[in-house]
Amino acid sequence: MMNKIAIFGLGYVGLPLAIEAHKSGYSIVGIDTSLSKVSQLNSGISTVEDISDDTVSNSLSSDSFKVVTELIGEYIFDVLVICVPTPLNAEHTPDLSYLISATKTAAKFVRPGSLVIIESTVETGTTRETVLPLLTSISGLHDTSFFLAFSPERVDPKNPLWNIRNTPKLVSALNKDGLNAAVKFYSRFIDTIIECSSLEVAETAKLLENSFRLVNISFINEFFIYCQKIGISINEVIHAAASKPYGFMTFYPSIGIGGHCIPIDPIYLANRAKNIGVSTDFIDLAIKVNHQMPLYFVKQAFLRLGTLSKKRILVIGISYKPNMSDTRETPVASLIRELRIEGAEVFWHDDLVEAWNGETSVPLSDEYDLAIIATPHDYLDLTKLRDLPILNTRESIQ
Ligand SMILES: NC(=O)c1ccc[n+]([C@@H]2O[C@H](COP(=O)([O-])OP(=O)(O)OC[C@H]3O[C@@H](n4cnc5c(N)ncnc54)[C@H](O)[C@@H]3O)[C@@H](O)[C@H]2O)c1
Repeated sequence: MMNKIAIFGLGYVGLPLAIEAHKSGYSIVGIDTSLSKVSQLNSGISTVEDISDDTVSNSLSSDSFKVVTELIGEYIFDVLVICVPTPLNAEHTPDLSYLISATKTAAKFVRPGSLVIIESTVETGTTRETVLPLLTSISGLHDTSFFLAFSPERVDPKNPLWNIRNTPKLVSALNKDGLNAAVKFYSRFIDTIIECSSLEVAETAKLLENSFRLVNISFINEFFIYCQKIGISINEVIHAAASKPYGFMTFYPSIGIGGHCIPIDPIYLANRAKNIGVSTDFIDLAIKVNHQMPLYFVKQAFLRLGTLSKKRILVIGISYKPNMSDTRETPVASLIRELRIEGAEVFWHDDLVEAWNGETSVPLSDEYDLAIIATPHDYLDLTKLRDLPILNTRESIQ
């Protein structure tokens, strides 16, 4: 009976997983190396916006749910799930240091029959080539004595419709017994499980999903510039095109991509492709188009004001996505930096983020030369801007 679960990394992926698995009857130990995160959770404060403080308190009030910074003492786990970050390093290539570190810790608790699952996004081959050797060498077990699975997470923070339970889950494993064990584990709290024939298929499917989004978001952003130039509404064009009942999928313009997935995962794919001599022109171009979007809006601001020198500009919304406070890889950082390079005095308003890079959110008001709506949160009351000129990064007719 699989009952005792260790979850390494309690971020946007690991915390919802821990809570949902606990609700379905599993006993959970969450391990996160961030002392502040563990302290917050132990004080009943949620660290993920989709999860309320009450949910965290309720879970942690149970004897079968605890969160710690490290595993000290005797623990026995049936399933060990790894949900740690897989970012880029200074050279802009995959940084597997968190994954390797968490795998090394997990390996110490692997026993015959244990199931280890990687949920972190990785480039094709990482589970077999990097994770498996660490597990076998540290545990001293042969790879037939325990199970190894890869199951990418698809969580879309703040999505009101799709959540961990009703989003179909890809599951893959080193062998058939591992696959059966992983399917059994997830089936208790996830409605639909899709089995993949190999670890590499599931790893690559995750990279395809997010590269697909990157390419399409970039394309619609380029299209946005076209619509702006000819003076028609991009959103009306999208709405009209979307009336076609097949063969079209809507993507909307923005100031660019952000977060821990879309700007990073395609680079994992491109990195592996380059290593095996395959080109990734679509991905390379999409990244380039996206990086240019903040600069495009700097140019638009310049055209509006004649000069940016000493102009007071209010940037509204700095998170990478509306209605959440996540600023990881936000394209708004580049917008603000470039405006300042051009001599503008830049202030920002975002009451969901409040504090960022040593600066704080200013109130919405008309005491500026220009407002740029970078990330439109629902709570914003734009009437406070009165007659202030507005540059909207999501609509071509301003
Ligand atoms: N954020 C998303 O929407 C999303 C969606 C799908 C997949 N993913 C993937 O899931 C993985 C995790 O992403 P996330 O957004 O949850 O990251 P996150 O930064 O929100 O959380 C990761 C947590 O892991 C902790 N951590 C780091 N090293 C550790 C270690 N050695 N042991 C234990 N804990 C450790 C960090 O302190 C952090 O709290 C990444 O590979 C990401 O690409 C993320």
